[in-house]
Amino acid sequence: MKILILGSGGREHSLAWAIKQNPKCDTLLCAPGNAGIAQIAECYSLDIMNAATVIDFVKGQNVDFVIIGPEAPLVADIGGALRRAGVLTFGPDQAAAQLEASKNFTKEVCSDGGIPTAAYAHFTNAEAAKAYVKMQSTPIVIKADGLATGKGVVIATNEATALDAIDAIFAGQFADSAAAVVIEEFMEGEEASLFVLCDGETALPFGTAKDYKRAFNGDRGPNTGGMGAYSPASILDTVTLDKAMKEIVEPTLSVLKERGTPYQGVLYAGLIIKDGNPRLVEYNVRFGDPECQVLMMRLGAQAFDLIEATAHGALANTRVNWADDFAITIVMATKGYPGQYPKGSVIKGLNELPETSKSVCFHAGTTLIDDKLTASGGRVLNVTARADNLEEARILAYSMVERVDWLEGFFRKDIGISAL
Ligand code: GLY
Repeated sequence: MKILILGSGGREHSLAWAIKQNPKCDTLLCAPGNAGIAQIAECYSLDIMNAATVIDFVKGQNVDFVIIGPEAPLVADIGGALRRAGVLTFGPDQAAAQLEASKNFTKEVCSDGGIPTAAYAHFTNAEAAKAYVKMQSTPIVIKADGLATGKGVVIATNEATALDAIDAIFAGQFADSAAAVVIEEFMEGEEASLFVLCDGETALPFGTAKDYKRAFNGDRGPNTGGMGAYSPASILDTVTLDKAMKEIVEPTLSVLKERGTPYQGVLYAGLIIKDGNPRLVEYNVRFGDPECQVLMMRLGAQAFDLIEATAHGALANTRVNWADDFAITIVMATKGYPGQYPKGSVIKGLNELPETSKSVCFHAGTTLIDDKLTASGGRVLNVTARADNLEEARILAYSMVERVDWLEGFFRKDIGISAL
């Protein structure tokens, strides 16, 4: 098959790495890709937000299957447009992608499906939002309603922080998000991510992970897209996972189906678990980044069979074969991220890192300039390792991180510690 991946991050590099190992993959293309992806796939500079451009490219290249990585093209209905043009595609249509694009939409689906989640209120006006906050207790969660690349959420421990967060959202600080805010009850418990493949009829759990959203050690600093992750998330044991499927994921998919907008793709449920009871924090309509990297590391080539079965509507006949293993990924980011950061610093030492089925350095934001590998994004590398237990995987991953020669980068030193 000729397969095209849309996207350019560590998530897409790990997808490319896993897919490339599958014998069904004859040719792998990626748009736009990055310097790491370019080592294993043909990369093309393409406006992946423009349906006509993507369809022309796909038809011109005789692509058999398109896998959409990030949320923005999904919300722009690139998935729907490709399917309408007769192209086999992985990823939901725009209508179902509202689960990520609009927190208010998700809350309405939760209400229709009786799904356990935080009490909330939605405002399009800052003064009304502030008046509401003043009547609530803290901590309280303030979320920009719209896409905010993981950064539009503030857990305010006092009223002043909550009011400042509302001002920041209405001042347009979260570039892609709409001028609206969702204010939520703070839910106590342990967070974990559940990934489920859905083909419109069948839902198949595809793995669990835990990510680290804060920038600095000890869960301090601003929220990021994710500074590291490991899989599996032990808190999502068989019983809790089953509960999350029955009480959260399956009712969500039923509501979408009843509304005439069935979900096809991977559904990423951010959960909070207390006393074995999962509640929904949020949905995303794509693989998590960097959670995808640990899932791909564990699944390898079979990930493609599952993704393809999803697009074909054939999940009922499919199962996931899990090894009894653990994977961990450490994100190396440019100093300054998630705020302002410089671009163009040179990274050395990657060629000396072992690349095996148990250790890979996925690229997130890299560009090759004059044959030098340079940092072109906030999150730049995802150093990923797999082993029979989390401790060994962690030692292997950090031993690789230490060998990366990049003064302008930083990383968290405590990824995975909480689970040991
Ligand atoms: N790691 C969190 C996300 O992908 O949104």
